[in-house]
Amino acid sequence: MKYSLFENGLRVANENKEKTLKWYTNNIVRIYEKKNSEQLVKLSLTEKNTNPEVIAETGKDGEVKSLVAKCNGFEYTIGEDLLVHVSHNGKEYFDEIEPEKILPSDHHECFKLDPRNDEKTLKVKTNISVRLYDGKDIVYGLGDKAASLNRRGYEYESWNTDEPHQHNETYRSLYKSINYCMVNHHNSEYYGFFYPSSYRCVFDLGKKNADLWSVTSEKGEYDYFLIVGNTPAEITMSYSDIVGKTLFTPMKMLGYQQSRWTYTEEEVKRLRELHKQYDMPLDIIHLDIDYMERFKVYTVGKDYDMKALTDTLKKDDIGIITIIDPAVKVEKGYPLYEKLINDELVATYENKPYVNAVWPGDAVYPNYFLDKTAQLITDTTKKFVEENGLTGIWCDMNEPASFNGPLPDDVIFKGEDGEHLHEEVHNLYGEYMAKCVSNAFKKENKRPVVITRAAFATTSQYSTTWNGDNMSLWTHLENSLPQVMTMNLCNFAVNGVDIGGFNCDTTKELLIRWLEADIFSPFLRNHTAIWSKYQEPFAFDEETIKIYRKFLKVRYRFIPYMYDLLHEAHMTGEPVLRPLFYENPLDPRAKQCNDEVMLGKDVLLAPIVMQGATTRAVYLPKGNWINFFTGEKFKGEKDYLFHAEIDETLLFIRCGSVIPMYGDLCHLNKKKIDTVYLYLASAYDEKEEINTEYTMYEDDAETLDYQKGIYNTYLIKRTNEEVSIEMVHSGYRSDYKKMVLVEGEEETEIELCGDVTEKTV
Ligand code: GLC
Repeated sequence: MKYSLFENGLRVANENKEKTLKWYTNNIVRIYEKKNSEQLVKLSLTEKNTNPEVIAETGKDGEVKSLVAKCNGFEYTIGEDLLVHVSHNGKEYFDEIEPEKILPSDHHECFKLDPRNDEKTLKVKTNISVRLYDGKDIVYGLGDKAASLNRRGYEYESWNTDEPHQHNETYRSLYKSINYCMVNHHNSEYYGFFYPSSYRCVFDLGKKNADLWSVTSEKGEYDYFLIVGNTPAEITMSYSDIVGKTLFTPMKMLGYQQSRWTYTEEEVKRLRELHKQYDMPLDIIHLDIDYMERFKVYTVGKDYDMKALTDTLKKDDIGIITIIDPAVKVEKGYPLYEKLINDELVATYENKPYVNAVWPGDAVYPNYFLDKTAQLITDTTKKFVEENGLTGIWCDMNEPASFNGPLPDDVIFKGEDGEHLHEEVHNLYGEYMAKCVSNAFKKENKRPVVITRAAFATTSQYSTTWNGDNMSLWTHLENSLPQVMTMNLCNFAVNGVDIGGFNCDTTKELLIRWLEADIFSPFLRNHTAIWSKYQEPFAFDEETIKIYRKFLKVRYRFIPYMYDLLHEAHMTGEPVLRPLFYENPLDPRAKQCNDEVMLGKDVLLAPIVMQGATTRAVYLPKGNWINFFTGEKFKGEKDYLFHAEIDETLLFIRCGSVIPMYGDLCHLNKKKIDTVYLYLASAYDEKEEINTEYTMYEDDAETLDYQKGIYNTYLIKRTNEEVSIEMVHSGYRSDYKKMVLVEGEEETEIELCGDVTEKTV
């Protein structure tokens, strides 16, 4: 074999092929024969000088037999077969295997790609197969799939799909294509793998062969990122360096959102009254497709006086988000349609605009890959948002969905750099739409309020997401936790599911348990279909309303902590919601805990997700924990059996931690919030030593000014004896007039005078 070295990498070749290993950082290495195109896939790569030490091992004949590259404690060995083997701490860590040696030939030769088209079998161009070391190895990741955290044993296809049927483990594709997985093996080691191709590909996570997982593609290249590290946190943060940091949304997005397909103007007004009457938190109401004039996007039907409606709601700090679909109705005289057609800004097929059908009937698909279309959609969105006083836009059906059969693979989307076929852009279409919409907000120095259903791995830079059309089923409630945790592991911090379920009818118990379970879901929206029974809390009884209010108020108390986590996610890639193993990577009990979730590192929620249950087992990981509601304390690394009636949930805070909280709120208008409570979770006992540092972040919660340094950070230090608060960055005129230290029943007020210098209490 031959090899050559270049800056931050090496190239090896045998008589058949050539492979390159290129280090971007100590933790990120890209391994490729030929790179996947980055024309449309927008990676966010920065290179740090990372020259690995390379040793060539030669045989008796002087020929190079293998190469060993050492980098930051990891050893990469490439033999004459050019397969990559990595070891760490003296143990095997990542081993590529020759697919031919392992796979049955029928799998290697062809595989069925489209479950709706059994005839279609495709030749395999790329197969990357990686060893699983034993039965206990776990594969996390791949985004929104409706499954538990551990996706091993299943096969998934990256092909954004509008899936109206019941989502479960065996559905190969849902709305998003996030070609990223994190593997845990030997109980202690983790690595990340990202396949940056937008083409259709299949991840077999040990389904056909239990000893390996693989990614296979007909059009994608042999080209992947291996992300190494000592902890899931290190890997997750490095991954976010590749796909771009998650969007920093306005704080209002963390508020409660109410939706239904579709509220009339009268119903919106009634909702507002009910929320007022019952002192029920509410920040955003969503308007679904029927607000439009005959489903024509960027129009408002005559039954709505949108501007008057949004003006009225704003007085109560409630915003409106309207849905927009990509498909534009074919209709002479409809300005958007005319403009798109006249300027040739739509997808084409056989030299004509490509027409399929979505809600408005026959419709064309804007070609967002052309700058001119992107600009048009951004400008149209900006005007629409301004004219109607909207808070945000909800992008739907952007897989893209099509009611008259799938778009042919060879529909053409002309880009700035030439033609792209549907088979290449399909998985990116949703992202490009969301990006155009998102840019409309940035033009105004506002942080975007955008939600999208379809996404690619890189989409969270532009938009938040929800996980599409679930159902009012207990299994879907159960799935919602691993789904949102996985999305968080995949760099999609603001994600959530339809609370109560989209399709079918919810029940009182299901709705309440769902809210309790997803109460820290960063995107918290109750949404249901037009054919389902109403599922606002008011559609049930007084008890439902009371419990619903109780938990929404709990959510609002935790908003400053959630906002800090969101800011952290945006800056570093650390998730907001975390599976237990994220904070406890060596604890085998934490590895597959699907029904408990951590908010940051100090809050743990263990909701009831089974019908009729009022007790459940809870595993508390390392540390000491205090029940937020009862003040009872527990030692970690133990199992408990707890009781929780319908109006209770199991919420624990790490003993000795500091959690910033708000008081009793119904809306998130930061300017009107003048008090922050610093909740000081008690020590487990007198012997427990407290030595906690917490950094609280503050800004105007809605504009991009923070990028100019207009924000504050407060460093809070806590020991058993004292608490000190120091402003370490002072750039924003604080809205807070006082901070209140809360420990048990005791409250200590600290007046703030413009800027906190150093305060010790
Ligand atoms: C899709 C969306 C759903 C929406 C419906 C009507 O099914 O996923 O949320 O309510 O379309 O627009």
